[in-house]
Order: sequence, then C-alpha cells, then structure tokens
Amino acid sequence: MSKELKVKKIRNGTVIDHIPPGRAMDIIKILNVNMEEDTVLIAVNVDSSKMGKKDIIKIEGKLLERDEVDKVAIVAPEATVNIIKDYEVVKKFKVKPPETVEGVIKCPNPNCITNDEREPVRTRFVLESDDPPVYRCEYCERLVEADRLPDLIR
Ligand code: CTP
Ligand code: ZN
Repeated sequence: MSKELKVKKIRNGTVIDHIPPGRAMDIIKILNVNMEEDTVLIAVNVDSSKMGKKDIIKIEGKLLERDEVDKVAIVAPEATVNIIKDYEVVKKFKVKPPETVEGVIKCPNPNCITNDEREPVRTRFVLESDDPPVYRCEYCERLVEADRLPDLIR
C-alpha cells in the first residue's frame, strides 16, 4: 500500500495541486478565499513523487474561472488546477502568469506612488517575462523578480 497521505476527495470544486511547499497561504490571499464562508481543505508539506513535497488547496463548491485562478502563477508557476464535478476531474490545466496584475502585489519601491500613505493608488504590474514570472510596476517601472513576488503579496 502506498505510504502517501490521502487527502479527502471533493465532490464539486477546484483543486490547486503542485504548489511549492509553504506557498499555500499566499495563494489563499491571492484568490480572496473567504475563510469564514468557503469550505477549504489545505494540505501542506505532503509527499509528492514529482516535487518531493508540495501543498494542495481544495475549495469545495466553487468552480474558479481560469482568469481568476491564473493569478496563482504569481507565486506558484508550476501549479496545476483541477475542476471537479461529481467527484471527477473534468478539466485540468497549468496556471499561466497574467499579463497584468492589479491590486495583488505591493511595489517594493518605497517612493512609488502606490505606496503613498495619503493617497494610495491601486498597484498595477505588467508581465515582463514568463518563466519564471517577472513583473514591472506600471507606475515606477521597478522590476520584481520571481523570488521576491511571494513576499510582496498584499
Ligand atoms: N481530486 C480531489 N477530488 C476528486 C478528484 C480529484 O480532490 N473528486 C484531487 C486529487 O486528490 C489530486 C487532484 O485533484 O490532488 C488531481 O486529481 P487526479 O488528476 O486524479 O490526480 P493525478 O493524476 O495524480 O494528477 P496529476 O497528473 O495532475 O499529478
Ligand atoms: Zn512602483
């Protein structure tokens, strides 16, 4: 018998799989999961044959749209999304970093207008390169490399 820890299957919903270990909570923030209302299963540091360890998020009863779930690629470009209907995987895709990201990432430049405390402007980043994802602040042009992105999730 496999030693792998089995996480409960869901009937309907969205499973985000192959998340690098430690990134699950960043993804919960990015997706605006409502921790008071949504039914969410989170598994961290689960054994994975492909990755060694991984995190998994299962959101019951919510079929997330591709545009919404692609934001996951900001911190987990290797994540896979599975749409589950009646216990079956009906759609499976890899996330793809969005061309523009609004209001999700903080700009690391303290002088950027998006960090002005008196009149904060909603952040807007544009994808500069894909793999790994690098984003550029549209206001101050500051580049944010992939490894810094997780720390800058608002
Ligand atoms: N899953 C689930 N509930 C279901 C069906 C699947 O939670 N009713 C989860 C599985 O636990 C797994 C993911 O959805 O984490 C993908 O399921 P499946 O495609 O069956 O697994 P694998 O073949 O291992 O996926 P992959 O090839 O993407 O690694
Ligand atoms: Zn900026």
